[in-house]
Amino acid sequence: MSAELPEINANEFKKVVESRRSVRFYTKDSIPEDVMRQCLDMALLAPSSFNLQPWEFYWVRSPEKKQRLIKACLYQSTAKTAAELVVCVARRKTWRKNRKEILEKIEAGNTGIPDSHIRYYKNLIPFFYTQGILDSIGFLKSIIYYVRGIFVPTPREPVSINDMKIWAVRSSSLACENFMLALRSFGYDSCPLEFHDSSRIKRMLGLPYDAIITMVITAGKRAPNGVYGERMRLNKINFIKEV
Ligand SMILES: Cc1cc2nc3c(=O)[nH]c(=O)nc-3n(C[C@H](O)[C@H](O)[C@H](O)COP(=O)(O)O)c2cc1C
Repeated sequence: MSAELPEINANEFKKVVESRRSVRFYTKDSIPEDVMRQCLDMALLAPSSFNLQPWEFYWVRSPEKKQRLIKACLYQSTAKTAAELVVCVARRKTWRKNRKEILEKIEAGNTGIPDSHIRYYKNLIPFFYTQGILDSIGFLKSIIYYVRGIFVPTPREPVSINDMKIWAVRSSSLACENFMLALRSFGYDSCPLEFHDSSRIKRMLGLPYDAIITMVITAGKRAPNGVYGERMRLNKINFIKEV
């Protein structure tokens, strides 16, 4: 059964989206812990492939780790002045554990998931996401997909570890955007960072080898000189194609 839909105010959402900027300088204001927790919770409400939630958010709170993270972000001003630092990690291998948990929930009670979908969890997900040693299973699947695809529409990916990386980063990026928009809705700001030393961050957080740093997100209250000028977007005819 679906939850009742709340009243929506598109203008408020537009304000959130339009006022989100990548902030490079923050004030000394802190972000209330409760706000951070609510924003992280909203990050987890992002859609994900088969609801397998291939993400983790590391809210770096220890002063010592924060300093190491700022260093790993090459002392960018947005990291140095941020009230909070969060590392979003994409996990290409947690689908097994998360699928098992979803199946347990399905078995425990009425989740409203249709039978066709339960079949996906039982059979198709392991088929889709197992790639084998050196992508051996993925390679066999790519042949099957190619032949089948001649006759009927067929999903072509993922068939390699690289595809699985894209798979995990795709969903985790959506969670990052949720997080940043949530911060803005509370009047706080953020900046996503890809310019960092991922090896150092992984070592500091003790992450396993399949972990990919999707991005580091800085957060705080925007300083008067916090953004680099007016928002710049290129002509939308380059990006929105009506076909
Ligand atoms: C994946 C990703 C990585 C980014 N990495 C950095 C970064 O390392 N340092 C930085 O200052 N800004 C970074 N940015 C912010 C972009 O420069 C910024 O989003 C872009 O200039 C558009 O500005 P706006 O976000 O204010 O609209 C990144 C943005 C994204 C989406």
